[in-house]
Amino acid sequence: MAASTKGKVCVTGASGFIASWLIRRLLESGYHVIGTVRDTGNFQKVAHLWKLSGANERLQLVRADLLEEGSFDDAVMACEGVFHVASPVLVISASSTKEDMVVPAVNGTLNVLRSCKKNPFLKRVVLTSSSSAVRIRDDVEPNISLDETSWSSVPLCEKKKLWYALAKICAEQAAWEFAKQNNMDLVTVIPSFVIGPSLPNELSFTASDVLGLFKGDTARFSSYGRMGYVHIDDVASCHILLYETREATGRYLCNSVVLDNNELVSFLSNRYPSYPIPRSLNNPYGKQSYELNTSKLQKMGVKFRGMQEMFDECVQSLKEQGHLL
Ligand SMILES: NC(=O)c1ccc[n+]([C@@H]2O[C@H](COP(=O)([O-])OP(=O)(O)OC[C@H]3O[C@@H](n4cnc5c(N)ncnc54)[C@H](OP(=O)(O)O)[C@@H]3O)[C@@H](O)[C@H]2O)c1
Repeated sequence: MAASTKGKVCVTGASGFIASWLIRRLLESGYHVIGTVRDTGNFQKVAHLWKLSGANERLQLVRADLLEEGSFDDAVMACEGVFHVASPVLVISASSTKEDMVVPAVNGTLNVLRSCKKNPFLKRVVLTSSSSAVRIRDDVEPNISLDETSWSSVPLCEKKKLWYALAKICAEQAAWEFAKQNNMDLVTVIPSFVIGPSLPNELSFTASDVLGLFKGDTARFSSYGRMGYVHIDDVASCHILLYETREATGRYLCNSVVLDNNELVSFLSNRYPSYPIPRSLNNPYGKQSYELNTSKLQKMGVKFRGMQEMFDECVQSLKEQGHLL
């Protein structure tokens, strides 16, 4: 087991898909981790965390809710770093309104940052944003390479009622504004669609999207159009790298491959021919050809895993957890 020399950090939304993997890697590299969950008594939801190497010695779970002012004060007070991964708005129902999605996302992020501000020993906050805050644009030239200077178009999100994307834009922008006003060291990680094995047995929204595709569902990936994909372990490693690298600054796109949804299903149906994966999908955005420029992370030595590894491990995990035959 790694020696405990790395200090104490907080991870919000500890039970979730990305946060659980991040906690795994943090524990392995010697950190003490304070993970926040809404319900510490829900043992089923956190059982996978207690199985992680180092958890008994260096993991503590505390209750905190993004929607309760001051809820994160205790969790972040003893920490040198905070990874704010939790999001109150991931699942969109047909009746979701803009207010339902955007207001809690912004208030939840500011709530965590206000708690962070009370901690004089805090060195850095790493916030998990999303490529949805970057890639949804209608003014881009063909084959443009979107980078960390790019933001999704608010009017386009409003027009298409893309409330998750709007929530991620507004939450990240509110965080930058807060950090500027309060002289806080903030770095944001901007993952594309995260694929890979899941530690929680409960399906995350990402895993349930992939599972749907393997069962022939066409609705969700059709609406995604062209999108980037990245391995969960790369996402976790990048969070830690950006926390540990003193010179890191600003936003960081975290992505391996960008594919049209038709290229995705073609890859998947060739690789996993025994499943009824759709052979083609609609793209509501028409022709798209953007790429995501990840040279900022690549210059720091990051090498992203490819499609085969991320999907093979995802499929294996879905099978092991009994979600896929
Ligand atoms: N998955 C992807 O492909 C992807 C891609 C780009 C960005 N992201 C971003 O990455 C982050 C994590 O996503 P994920 O896929 O890991 O989602 P997830 O598995 O659903 O985890 C989200 C976590 O947020 C917590 N949460 C929800 N509402 C909360 C509230 N009111 N107060 C406190 N915690 C709350 C939940 O914790 P409880 O256990 O307390 O309910 C849950 O564990 C999100 O910010 C998401 O936008 C995800």
